[in-house]
Amino acid sequence: MSNSPELLAALATVHDPELRRPITELGMVESAVLSQGTATVKILLTIAGCPMRSTIQDEATAALQAVAGVHQVNVNLGVMDPQQRADLRESLASRRTPFSDPSSLTRVIAVASGKGGVGKSSITANLACQLASQGLKVGLIDADVHGFSIPSLMGISQNPTRVDDMILPPVAHGVKVISIGMFLDSNQPVIWRGPMLHRALEQFLSDVYFGDLDYLFLDLPPGTGDMAISVSQLLPNSELLVVTTPQSTATEVAERAGTIALQTDQKVIGVVENMSFLQLPDGTRMEVFGSGGGAKLSDSLSQQLDYPVQLLTQIPLEESVRVGSDEGRPVVLSSPQSPAAFALRELAGKLDQRPRGLAGRSLPMSF
Ligand SMILES: Nc1ncnc2c1ncn2[C@@H]1O[C@H](COP(=O)(O)OP(=O)(O)O)[C@@H](O)[C@H]1O
Ligand SMILES: [Mg+2]
Repeated sequence: MSNSPELLAALATVHDPELRRPITELGMVESAVLSQGTATVKILLTIAGCPMRSTIQDEATAALQAVAGVHQVNVNLGVMDPQQRADLRESLASRRTPFSDPSSLTRVIAVASGKGGVGKSSITANLACQLASQGLKVGLIDADVHGFSIPSLMGISQNPTRVDDMILPPVAHGVKVISIGMFLDSNQPVIWRGPMLHRALEQFLSDVYFGDLDYLFLDLPPGTGDMAISVSQLLPNSELLVVTTPQSTATEVAERAGTIALQTDQKVIGVVENMSFLQLPDGTRMEVFGSGGGAKLSDSLSQQLDYPVQLLTQIPLEESVRVGSDEGRPVVLSSPQSPAAFALRELAGKLDQRPRGLAGRSLPMSF
């Protein structure tokens, strides 16, 4: 019996959770037959142990139940054969956007800091979640290979799915996330040297299927190490966002992380000051880590880079930020009314001021 156009239309609303495209476009619907009120559908998963199988099955069932004239739904799951997987890979590869291509519309933002513990990862995760919640397509690479924390900040415990040599990043809060931590046994130290880091990043950029993105964030390791250089080489369009605390020692090391842009020719978008103050119950602000670090960093980077590098926001020290991180739900989602969430939204808004879209840009040759 032939496939029912009504059922196919309903299935076109079901997206593969990892590939983020309609299952009908991915060659995943083998058959969709409607007979006497019974919809019988066979969906092929990319791999046998697909962690998303129940999500796909539930969403397909719900979509089919909503079709007029359908009284009963049978959704059977199968697995693609090697040829079907190869076809899928090919169709995805032809759509893969090389983020380093000058015509790429993806904005690549690397978040840097002088030292660890200043909130770089928390800020990166929050920015990614905030922009994704606004409907933008966002990817996040945890490039902090020695101190990876993005998976737990984003609440991801699941490993990436592999379709042969293609890696499908887990999606959390609408953000496609990849981290070196997803490829290691738990708590195993990473003792990689520069060339291996470079190759790891290269592989993230070539083998991980991000699809078209509006934003790609990179959580850099602290300091001015090999990874920062690799990012500038592999993603020459990337821009830097520099995070500091108000403390002068943090600012001095952050300055070095920012002036690396002089050598790599990357643009520094701005400075973020985190843990700026603690709001006390009586309304006064306690400056736990001192004050003025962000403004000082903004001044010195502006001078050295010879263009204005603004202090984009000051984020208060707040329990909700830490709680959100611990729960795997960044504060912009878990406590959106908190002053820290407000500051992070302000920051996301400032980043997103640049007009996106095709106007004035050359079109990539293939889609
Ligand atoms: N504004 C803030 N208020 C309270 N805690 C924060 C804030 N920013 C970060 N933290 C906490 O500080 C610690 C370090 O933050 P993290 O984002 O991991 O820093 P980094 O990536 O720079 O090492 C984490 O426990 C995090 O939850
Ligand atoms: Mg970190």
